[in-house]
Amino acid sequence: MTTIIAILSQKGGGGKSTLARTLAVELTKQNQKTLLVDLDIQQKTSQEWSERRKRKNIKPLISCQSLPYFEEKLIKTNYDYLIIDCPARISKESLIIAKHASLIIQPVRPSLDDLNPAIREFHALVRAGISKKKLALVINCVNSNAEEKNTREYLTEAGYFVFSIALLDKVSYREAQNQGLSISEVKYPRLSNQVQLLVKSILSKI
Ligand SMILES: Nc1ncnc2c1ncn2[C@@H]1O[C@H](COP(=O)(O)OP(=O)(O)O)[C@@H](O)[C@H]1O
Ligand SMILES: [Mg+2]
Repeated sequence: MTTIIAILSQKGGGGKSTLARTLAVELTKQNQKTLLVDLDIQQKTSQEWSERRKRKNIKPLISCQSLPYFEEKLIKTNYDYLIIDCPARISKESLIIAKHASLIIQPVRPSLDDLNPAIREFHALVRAGISKKKLALVINCVNSNAEEKNTREYLTEAGYFVFSIALLDKVSYREAQNQGLSISEVKYPRLSNQVQLLVKSILSKI
């Protein structure tokens, strides 16, 4: 059985690729056969990231494939996990992916300009028949406890599950990815531990 985790959002820059790479790294470290699927064919940033990682010989290497669209035949491969890094446009294809996914995660930045589209996106998936139980949000790029609290309340009020760990806005998360690392591999234990806890709670939600 292949488990599919889809990371999507209509907005660019919310943290889809950041989160998708992190899940791919942590699952691969757990000896799960994992493929990171980069569906953002115009940008291919996760594919580039995996190539940076390979050039720097950072272990484990991450299997990443860039595809123009989600192919249902991917489900029949022998991967334990497919992590789908979706492009910043929601299309009919998102619905196909959502149907096959065990978990659909939307990373969201804490501003109304990001929160409202994220909520609308989940409402649309629910209207299209996707179970609310499969939908979850990760608050990304918070700068204060108050910001996190307000964001969490806003999203919970809208009726969606929000992971209890939010990701802080940290330069070292960007630098890590520039180096081919995931944000769970940053050198500051306080930050990497927080990311690993988030990964743990994501995997336990499946
Ligand atoms: N928590 C964070 N702290 C600092 N920078 C972040 C954080 N999350 C994402 N970024 C940076 O923001 C940019 C956009 O993130 P990315 O994951 O590529 O978003 P998306 O794939 O949704 O477009 C990248 O440069 C990434 O390194
Ligand atoms: Mg991306």
